[in-house]
Amino acid sequence: MSDLVRVSISLEASLAAELDRLVETSRYENRSEYVRDLIREQLVSEEWEQGREVLGTITLIYDHHQGGLSDKLNALQHDHHANVLASTHVHLDHGTCAEMIMLRGKPEILRELTDGMRKLKGVLHAAFALSSTGKTLQRGGHRHA
Ligand code: NI
Repeated sequence: MSDLVRVSISLEASLAAELDRLVETSRYENRSEYVRDLIREQLVSEEWEQGREVLGTITLIYDHHQGGLSDKLNALQHDHHANVLASTHVHLDHGTCAEMIMLRGKPEILRELTDGMRKLKGVLHAAFALSSTGKTLQRGGHRHA
């Protein structure tokens, strides 16, 4: 990889030991891989803070027998059709549904949509995962060089 640079940093011994422990427990190959991902994590949270276009995924667990809930969830997605990239519905058991909805857009719109779903009666859990369109992450070059 031609744009690879070597960076040397100074850490207190105790902090360096913590770094090694984190690398070990999170099963990274080495410190470099771990620190690269920490930086990328920070770049993604910066994208969210700055209100850039981002990616997000909602995972919903809900009661299949709750009257009108499917229609309401569907209507919310239609209202945000420009932000909904894809969705998958899984029937977990006789009375429980899971739905994963992949979103793209401004952070505030994605949060608003998530909150709109979370508060509906019959929604048992709503998890929201933040991610990126990848534009700022590519500055760092390819992952496995
Ligand atoms: Ni279902």
